[in-house]
Amino acid sequence: MKALSTSAAPGAASAAGPGRTTLGGHVLGQLVRLAPVAGLNDADKIAYGQVLMESLSDSAHRPLSLPPASPSFISDDHTPVEFSLAFTRDADPHLRVLVEPGCAVGDVAGSGRVGLSVIREMAARWDFSTAQLDAVEDLFFPADPQGPLALWYALELRPGGVPGVKVYLNPSAAGPENAARTVREALRRLGHPHAFDALPVAAGYPFIALDLGSWATPRVKVYVKHPRMSADDAAAVSRTTPGLAEDQVTTFFQLAAGTVQPPGRRAGERQRLLRRPALTCHAFTDGKATSPSGFTLHIPVRDYVRDDSEALARATALLRPFGMGASALRRALSALTPRKLTDGVGLIAYLALAHEQHRQPRVTAYLSSEAYAVRPPLTLPLREAVSLP
Ligand code: TRP
Repeated sequence: MKALSTSAAPGAASAAGPGRTTLGGHVLGQLVRLAPVAGLNDADKIAYGQVLMESLSDSAHRPLSLPPASPSFISDDHTPVEFSLAFTRDADPHLRVLVEPGCAVGDVAGSGRVGLSVIREMAARWDFSTAQLDAVEDLFFPADPQGPLALWYALELRPGGVPGVKVYLNPSAAGPENAARTVREALRRLGHPHAFDALPVAAGYPFIALDLGSWATPRVKVYVKHPRMSADDAAAVSRTTPGLAEDQVTTFFQLAAGTVQPPGRRAGERQRLLRRPALTCHAFTDGKATSPSGFTLHIPVRDYVRDDSEALARATALLRPFGMGASALRRALSALTPRKLTDGVGLIAYLALAHEQHRQPRVTAYLSSEAYAVRPPLTLPLREAVSLP
C-alpha cells in the first residue's frame, strides 16, 4: 500500500497551492505526521485518515481562506478537530483525536443529527453497540437544543485500525438550569444510580462522555467546572475517588498552573486560577459502586503561560516525576506546526492527570490544530492570572 503523505492528501497545501489549503488537508497532514509518534503504521494512518475525512464531510473540502463553517467550541480558533497524546510509563503515548462531526451544519440541532448518524455508521463499521447512547438520546437531543455543542466524538487511534470510540454530549442541551437534572437522569439510565451523589459541588457540567466500542472497562464520565480552583481544592475534589495519591494531584496542579508557594504558606494553599477554569472528570464503571472509579484533573495551561515554550516546559516538568519523557511531545508539536513555540500560545491547550482504578496514572496533553489562527503570546502579567484571595 502506498504511504499516505501530506502531499498525497486531497486538498493538501502542496497539492493545491499554499492559498488553497483545505481544512481536511491541514488536519490530515497533521495526523499523518503525528502517527509515528504513537507507533502507528502506514495502514493505520490511511484507515484513520479516511475516517477523519469522512466524518468532516463537506468541511474537509472547505478552504482555510474561508472562516470556519461553524464556531466549533473544540478549539479557541474554532478548528473542529483537536489532537491529544496520552502518556503512560514505558510505552508509546496514545494518540487521540477529538472531532465535531456536525461542524458543517450551521445549527446545533442539525449538527446533533449529523453527529448521531456518524456514530451509528462507526458502530456498523466496527461492530459495536450504541445502546448506551440510544438510552439517553432524548435527554441530549431535544427539539430545540442549546449550545455550545451537540455531539463530539474522540477516537483513540490504536494500532490495527480499530479505534476506541468516545462520545461527548452536552448536559445543558435543555438549558444550563436543567444540566444537573439531565446528568442525574442520564447516570441513572446508564446503570449508575448512586453516581450523581458522588460528584463534587459543581459550577457547571460542560460534558458527559460515553465509552463505546471495545474498552476493557467502558466508562461514563462527567466533567465538572471549578472556577477559582486552588491546588488544595483540587486535592479535596480528588478525594471523591478513593485510593488515589492526593499529593500527586497537588503537585500536578502547581506544576501545570505555575502556582508558586507564597512564603510562609502551605504549598498550594491559596493561589487560585482566575482565567479559564480547571475541570475535573469523574468516571463510573461499576453500577453498584457508590464512588467513582476514575478521576482526571484538566488544567487549561494556555491561559496561564506566556507562550507555548513555557507550556512545554511545564509539561516536561510534570511528566518527569512519573518517569515519563517529553521527547514524544516535542516531536508531536513539530508535527503540528512549523511555527516557533515562542510565537504563540494555545498549541498545548490543556494538561491533564488521569487516575483510573488498577491502572498507572496517565498524563495527557491536548494539542490544537491551529487551522484558522494562532493566539499571540500573552502580554498581561501572569501574576494577574492567579490570585491570593
Ligand atoms: N475548547 C473547550 C475548552 O477549552 C473544550 C475542550 C476541548 C476541552 N478539548 C478539551 C476541555 C480538553 C477539557 C479538556 O474547554
